Amino acid sequence: MFATGFRCGRCGATYDLDEVRYVCPRDGVEGTLDVLYDYDRLRATVSPGQLRGHPSRSIWRYAPLLPLRPESIHRVEGAGALQAVGWTPMYRAERTARRLGVRAIYIKDDGRNPTASFKDRASAVVALKAIEEGASAITTASSGNAAAALAGMAAALNLPAIIFVPHTAPEAKVAQLLIYGAQVFLVEGTYDEAFDLTLAAAEAFGWYCRNTAYNPFTREGKKTAAYEIWEQLQGRVPDRVFVSVGDGNILSGLWKGFRDLTALGWIERPPILMGIQAEGAAVLARAWAEGEENIRPEPPRTIADSIAVGQPRDARFALQAVRETGGAFLTVTDEEILTAMRTLAREAGVFAEPAAAAAFAGLEKAVREGLMGEEETVVVMITGNGLKDIPSAMRAVGQAHRVSPEVPTALRQLQEAIRSHPLS
Ligand SMILES: Cc1ncc(COP(=O)(O)O)c(C=O)c1O
Ligand SMILES: [Zn+2]
Repeated sequence: MFATGFRCGRCGATYDLDEVRYVCPRDGVEGTLDVLYDYDRLRATVSPGQLRGHPSRSIWRYAPLLPLRPESIHRVEGAGALQAVGWTPMYRAERTARRLGVRAIYIKDDGRNPTASFKDRASAVVALKAIEEGASAITTASSGNAAAALAGMAAALNLPAIIFVPHTAPEAKVAQLLIYGAQVFLVEGTYDEAFDLTLAAAEAFGWYCRNTAYNPFTREGKKTAAYEIWEQLQGRVPDRVFVSVGDGNILSGLWKGFRDLTALGWIERPPILMGIQAEGAAVLARAWAEGEENIRPEPPRTIADSIAVGQPRDARFALQAVRETGGAFLTVTDEEILTAMRTLAREAGVFAEPAAAAAFAGLEKAVREGLMGEEETVVVMITGNGLKDIPSAMRAVGQAHRVSPEVPTALRQLQEAIRSHPLS
């Protein structure tokens, strides 16, 4: 293993891997930890050429860059859907690029993961870590996707999972939890409240806790998407990446992946990172606009349940990711998110859940506001599949027509329907 320790994002203190488990003892939940690596030794062991030839079409092709012991990597083999996490397709969206006047737009479709969201990346790594730690069970709070991912990955590893989600989580996500056999608790409160409850429950019952950013290994799983973007662009980085932001851990994970590649000397620098928040859950965007000093938690209100976060748990690293790459935080309205769901589906054939479509809405806004150059290559992270939240999708579209099964009647009805809604 090439991971060597942790560094606190708040006070900068460093720790050995076996010295702390979750967060910096001095700073508590504010002090999320970055995993450190021996890049010299890594560089001598793996090369871009070796990666290119790797047979595994999953995050496990990056095993040396993950903070897992070799026996954990061996455990993946035969462990059901765990084997298929990551290496999601990245498509070129020509029509969108032409319409927006951008050189190239790529859609990284992480809704194609085993449990249909980006969160499989983190949950896969952390579930293996739980086994390394000898845990009897694993728990997490989640707005829905991280929990579904953990329930699926834990099932594949025969590890009991205890899940806390807000009672307002979309039904499809709750169905995923139950079908994977997790013990599910619907918290009569927000995601932020579920988060704190999970910390207390993990402590009281001795469960290993996956909570986003609080567990330092979630970011390590998420960083694999940056490696894939780099490989899928034949060893280049895009100019800019758009990603939606709740806790800010996907954003900081992408940054970590690109920082790893920079430290290894395989790329010159990370791309510009654009953090997109819903207007009704925009704590980081506001902190950014006000000069980053003030992170003021606020009750979230947005259709995009996955990014309905009032107290972002990876705030420090997320703000740093945007600052150091020369990016920005943008906010988008629920209306813009619904429009983006339609546009993305109709222009590129990609069905995104609201939180994922927010990143696409952010791209539209950045172009509208003249924040981008015409010659840029951009990647939009689509972090969750639209089938996870059908009621929101139905809000974005009209109703389908009903027709009679009697052919003559049906033909008349079809003619009427086509006259009022011409085929385009
Ligand atoms: C679909 C989707 N997009 C974006 C996010 C935001 O990720 P983060 O909370 O790490 O910022 C989430 C988190 O749940 C998600 O499920
Ligand atoms: Zn600290």
